[in-house]
Amino acid sequence: MNDNPTPPVRHTLPAAEEQVRAIVTQSPNGAAWYTVDSTHLALKFREDTPFEVWQAETRTLLEVARGIQWLVGDALAFGEDHWGEDAAQVFNLEEYTFDAVEKMIRTSKAIPPHRRRPAVGYSVHQEVVGLPVAQQEEILAHAAVSQSTKDEVRSLVRTTRRRLIRESAARQPVPDLALPACTLQVADARNLPLESNTVDLIITSPPYGLDVAYTHGDITAIDWVLFMLAWLPEALRVTKPHGRLALNTPLDTTKGGLRPTYADAVYAATEAGWTYQSTIVWHDNSTTKGNRALGSVDSASRPFHVSQVEMIALFSKGEWGPSSSNPDDISPADWQLAGRGPWTLPGETHAWEGFPAAFPVEIPRRLLHYLSRVGDHVLDPFSGSGTTAVAALKTGRRFTGFDLDPEAINSTQRRLATVSILKVP
Ligand SMILES: C[S@@+](CC[C@H](N)C(=O)[O-])C[C@H]1O[C@@H](n2cnc3c(N)ncnc32)[C@H](O)[C@@H]1O
Repeated sequence: MNDNPTPPVRHTLPAAEEQVRAIVTQSPNGAAWYTVDSTHLALKFREDTPFEVWQAETRTLLEVARGIQWLVGDALAFGEDHWGEDAAQVFNLEEYTFDAVEKMIRTSKAIPPHRRRPAVGYSVHQEVVGLPVAQQEEILAHAAVSQSTKDEVRSLVRTTRRRLIRESAARQPVPDLALPACTLQVADARNLPLESNTVDLIITSPPYGLDVAYTHGDITAIDWVLFMLAWLPEALRVTKPHGRLALNTPLDTTKGGLRPTYADAVYAATEAGWTYQSTIVWHDNSTTKGNRALGSVDSASRPFHVSQVEMIALFSKGEWGPSSSNPDDISPADWQLAGRGPWTLPGETHAWEGFPAAFPVEIPRRLLHYLSRVGDHVLDPFSGSGTTAVAALKTGRRFTGFDLDPEAINSTQRRLATVSILKVP
């Protein structure tokens, strides 16, 4: 170290400075090379600082910066127990929002030092806080090995949380529902236990080949079109002449390669004999493909476009006309709302019993009033958590739902026990 330091000169350290200035008063190794100017809140390196020293010190300081949230959280969570009431006064936390401080305390309490992974960022630790310890450990270990990003961990946490909710729900009793207007049954959409020409309207969202954590697994991307070609003719068979199909799919997907899912679905439906009518664009403000159109930031080299829409393609069996003479029940407001696109409403964020890939009840509710009549027979061959069932029974339609997963059927029965159902006239 130099015994005769030249006067310090301010060096701007663009990324590091903001973080460093908040935490460094003096570093034992770097003290001879830099000082902190508390008037200007700047870190000052001496002009003759060799690059290697600057680099090493900067890296150390960035490491310190990474740990600062643990430090603050630990001090606030445990400081008073150790040093008494004055401990909390040590920190001037004006730079943090109340929420951020709360989160730091919660994170420190939830993940004690011996479970913290040095190779995993603080924000990743924060993501797992709400989970039970066993699942926290599982995800942190995975993140350490795979160098997962915060977004990847967030999605893993969401899936894990849903799985836990579903596992706990599956232990609940299944109510014995005696609803004359409703049939729920385990069945394969490719082979429906239903008479031909009996359904007025199908509202459904099939598995998309997106690797969703369904109990029976998802369809693989490569088999998807074949799968669509297998169930759509069966859906046509059970539908009455002039009956309708509202088919919800994403516009496109990236899992299993880039796929124009909606275009494939329209192709499969028309191949199966359905007559195309039109498409409702549902702007759901979320996607299955990540939430930012990144790829090559601020460059045309490899932009990755994200469309925040799903599609609801409308078809009929033969001519587009009513399949029943039951009374209409659409309000003028709903008529206006339904008839103009796009439909802007958020995707389901709190699905019943943590079911993956559910649509919100508002989607089938609007479709039911728009495309069917009171007392009509509605089918969802991929019934899932029973969202179409809820909307159909609340609006006085008869409903039949099938799903390959017996737990989805049980779950729907628990769900229907909680909703008020309109009697079919
Ligand atoms: C996208 S989810 C339906 C979600 C539903 N719209 C809701 O809001 O809950 C697709 C469902 O199809 C079911 N499924 C997958 N393959 C099937 C098949 N061959 N026949 C019937 N159901 C199937 C899955 O178990 C899953 O519940």
